[in-house]
Amino acid sequence: MTDYKRIRLVQKDYRKMLPSDTARFHASQKSWLKQKFAEPFAGPTVVITHTAPSMLSVAGEFAADTVSAAYASRLDDLVCEADLWIHGHMHDSFDYRIGKCRVVCNPCGYMTRGGTNENRRFDPNFIVEIPGDQGTAATRPERARE
Ligand SMILES: [Fe+2]
Repeated sequence: MTDYKRIRLVQKDYRKMLPSDTARFHASQKSWLKQKFAEPFAGPTVVITHTAPSMLSVAGEFAADTVSAAYASRLDDLVCEADLWIHGHMHDSFDYRIGKCRVVCNPCGYMTRGGTNENRRFDPNFIVEIPGDQGTAATRPERARE
């Protein structure tokens, strides 16, 4: 992967990032997310990540490609803790459920030479509603008095 040729880490010493670094970052961030899920929270839980949390977000043509592991993780058990999970990094649209969680990806993909979006299913007007959102004083807009 180009990432391992281009990305340098500077925290301890200036060196190329290794796959073991990526695995360490992933474990750390997964642990952080598990801790956040364990914290009491009254509203719906929405997670937004760059990469996909499930191999269900890998298009069929890439399903057997080992490089797909750089695009999607196998966090399906963790996904079930959220109500909505939005991710990017893919070039295809996805909208599916794992347990109670809706997983959504709406990328435009690369711009083609013809000036169109690579992903023909990209919806620039896509709106996703947060499930079960009853609103709070901080998030619910005041309704106009009738
Ligand atoms: Fe990306």
